[in-house]
Amino acid sequence: MSIIFKDSTFKIDTKNTTYSMKIIDFGYLMHGYYGGKISDLDLQYVCPKTPDRSYIAAPEADKKMLLRLNDVPQEYSGYGIGDFRTTALRLKHADGSRAADLRYFSHEITDGAVSLDGLPSARQNGEDGVSSLKITLKDTASEVFVHLYYTVFENTDVIARTTIVENKGETPVFVEKAASLQLDFLNGDMDLIQLSGAWARERQIVRTHLHDGFQGFASRRGTSSHQHNPFFVLCDKNTDEWSGSAYGVHLMYSGNHRTEIELSQYGAARVLVGINDEGFSYEVKSNEKFTAPQAFFTHSENGLSKMSENLHKFIRRHIFAPQWYGSRRPLLINNWEATYFDFDEDKLVSLAETAGKLGIELLVMDDGWFGHREGDDSSLGDWVPYKKRLAGGLEPLARRVNEKGVKFGIWVEPEMISEDSDLYLNHPDWVMCIPNRPRTVGRNQFVLDLAKEEVKQYVLDAVLNILGSADIAYMKWDMNRYLTDAYSKSLQAENQGETYHRYVLALYDILNTITEKYPHLLIEHCSGGGGRFDTGMLYYSPQIWTSDDTDAAERVNIQFGTSLGYPITSMGSHLSASPNHQTGRLTSFDTRAAVAYSGTFGYELDINRLTDDEREQIKKQCAFYKEHYDLINYGRYYRLADEHGKFAAWCFMSPDSKEILLTAVNLSSGANDADRLLRIPCADKNLRYTDTQTGENYFGDTLCRLGIALPFTMGERISFIKHFTAE
Ligand code: DGJ
Repeated sequence: MSIIFKDSTFKIDTKNTTYSMKIIDFGYLMHGYYGGKISDLDLQYVCPKTPDRSYIAAPEADKKMLLRLNDVPQEYSGYGIGDFRTTALRLKHADGSRAADLRYFSHEITDGAVSLDGLPSARQNGEDGVSSLKITLKDTASEVFVHLYYTVFENTDVIARTTIVENKGETPVFVEKAASLQLDFLNGDMDLIQLSGAWARERQIVRTHLHDGFQGFASRRGTSSHQHNPFFVLCDKNTDEWSGSAYGVHLMYSGNHRTEIELSQYGAARVLVGINDEGFSYEVKSNEKFTAPQAFFTHSENGLSKMSENLHKFIRRHIFAPQWYGSRRPLLINNWEATYFDFDEDKLVSLAETAGKLGIELLVMDDGWFGHREGDDSSLGDWVPYKKRLAGGLEPLARRVNEKGVKFGIWVEPEMISEDSDLYLNHPDWVMCIPNRPRTVGRNQFVLDLAKEEVKQYVLDAVLNILGSADIAYMKWDMNRYLTDAYSKSLQAENQGETYHRYVLALYDILNTITEKYPHLLIEHCSGGGGRFDTGMLYYSPQIWTSDDTDAAERVNIQFGTSLGYPITSMGSHLSASPNHQTGRLTSFDTRAAVAYSGTFGYELDINRLTDDEREQIKKQCAFYKEHYDLINYGRYYRLADEHGKFAAWCFMSPDSKEILLTAVNLSSGANDADRLLRIPCADKNLRYTDTQTGENYFGDTLCRLGIALPFTMGERISFIKHFTAE
């Protein structure tokens, strides 16, 4: 068992890490340590004990005033009782007070993973070495119990945590803030790496050094957002891909989130991750509970690449539903950038026909097939085929596509409503908005009030109806605006602070029912590209459309950033037209493919308008991707070079290190540039590799320490793909 309790200390060991907590004076739960594996059990000495400081606050019972919560690394801190840093829990009691004074009450150690009511949680999925710890803390002055849950995945070096607040008192309590996790580090001399950006520029790597006071990032958009992903890294300032300490932390949640990091006056770092508490207030009635979303994290002593490797493995094994673990998903073509709204049944069938001949396995019919949708200003909510485009409905189209040897997939945006729709005519009150206030519109559409039971049911029925009407193998689930005017007509005035969260719970509920009924339906989530790219969504679908930016040069950065925390197999990645529709940039067919291969590969252009030569290339590309499918989707992935906007390289490696697939992209060349030596530090030093195209041989230690030579080439965005095998 990887969890032990001895001498008031909890020690959690995974293969390479240790996490430690101790019950200290007055029942407070101290956080002792988290990082690379250590042997000592009792870490009481990390609890500061310098006496005689002015301006301190200590519990009244501590006559020597030694225990100062403001200085103690704590496992889960309460508000208003002498810890002046940002704290994990803030309650509103019946008397209007906000305090929470949390002391150890009990604990329990069990086998297996914890699953949460209504929220996604990491799954055991048949793996050994999974156990859970529940520590219950109690507020001194109320009957509020706080259950801290830890599920330990020994083999992947990951710990998942969540917090459940239970009210055993007689009067309701409002949870105004309940972090999913708190991590206190005595030494906050670290860098924060966050994934920030914008629409079509998601998840750019932003690295800053922690400084005194407050820092962090959040979403207030109702979704996890394009702007700030609910994933981050804390690492030493010298940590690079191959060396140094790195903590990677994910919040498994698709709504408003917040990561707060505060450096104390003594340089200690407090990290809190959870639902964004701005405007949040959740009523917990007598004998009810509030469950915070799960967060999970890993630690690596071998730099960012090992941290990413742990998280990639973990997400594939323990977040994806078991049917997608190691699955072979179809290589697809999506008609969005091929036709936009200008399509009908024949055009789609003709795309499918060409696709089938080239080796593409699935055709996705994107936006525009329903209601009377001619553009983005109508019909959302009317999930019936648009007669003008699909006279016979979905069934004959799907059948004709299937007859070409290609599976059929469909686009939906079920959380939305257009003013120009039958749904709006019948249910204008289903729009999420605040009574007597002007509404906010986004992309000509409104958000449905999913927290309202009948609206949720309508959305579920609409999707099930579509799925039942034809042979549909894939569904692209889009969401093209953020939430505003957050107010649910199903909630009382004092409960409006629950609206954002209840929206997410309703969405998860819908997805749960759909995936239970259609476990083999492949869902690709999307929110204007990567606006809801999070592990909450990956729990229901193993792939997400990474970005609306399909430009290969810009995708390199987006995919690199995403790869820090998310597996390659989760990133929808398509070869699109040149000039690119988002940037106007020209990029060769080869390079567009080289970049798009690093994800769930597909096409997003009119393959009927290509030259014969280009179609021949597609055939080869499809064959290449299929040949290397397992290596790309389930191999180890390493970022080798990231010279922003100039040069990038990455590689995939088989579990036994005997196969390496390397991609390098020269994003912009200069006059009189030299050949470039590219090191492959992950190569096995004891193996001898052969370049399968040229037959050249290299010892692994040479690849590792000296590297291979990439020739200087004129022109922009030139790519190299190299494949090495070893005996
Ligand atoms: C936004 C998506 O990201 C695109 O791929 C496309 O599906 C459009 N929505 C359709 O409206």
